[in-house]
Amino acid sequence: MHAINRYDFKDKAADYASLAGELTGLLASETDLIANAANTCALLFDAIPDINWAGFYFLKAGELVVGPFQGKPACGRIGMGKGVCGTAAQQRATVVVPDVEAFPGHIPCDAASRSEIVIPLVTAGTLLGVLDIDSPRLARFDDVDRRGLEGLVAILLRASRP
Ligand code: SME
Repeated sequence: MHAINRYDFKDKAADYASLAGELTGLLASETDLIANAANTCALLFDAIPDINWAGFYFLKAGELVVGPFQGKPACGRIGMGKGVCGTAAQQRATVVVPDVEAFPGHIPCDAASRSEIVIPLVTAGTLLGVLDIDSPRLARFDDVDRRGLEGLVAILLRASRP
């Protein structure tokens, strides 16, 4: 049984470091990417405050297809270069959107979402998909979140075989 810790994120860097330790333990005995992605988004959704959606899209035949997630039902497929997810996938770089209404081409899934961060999953030069996290608060994600979440994605990729 995995005990979930909750964090207040007053010291974000320290809390992301603790979360990294939790995630490493959580994924230690499994290498299946989908199983690990499911547990990763469940952990993040439970542990990180002020978010309303956390989940994965995986690259399949040139499109991003929704994978394990926590939150309201979401759009199933996103084209490369489309929306925040497709942009992060195409650029292979994290995209932080302080105000989704100001992002041209943003794809609304949960009407409550106000800001968003998308981190690409790249392993050995191959793009596997993206991790997408939405918040009902404007400008919820800063550079500390970006670094912290990129670190968590690296743990997921190290623990998993595509
Ligand atoms: N907003 C995303 C779509 C996915 S949902 O937020 C879960 C985008 O613009 O790519």
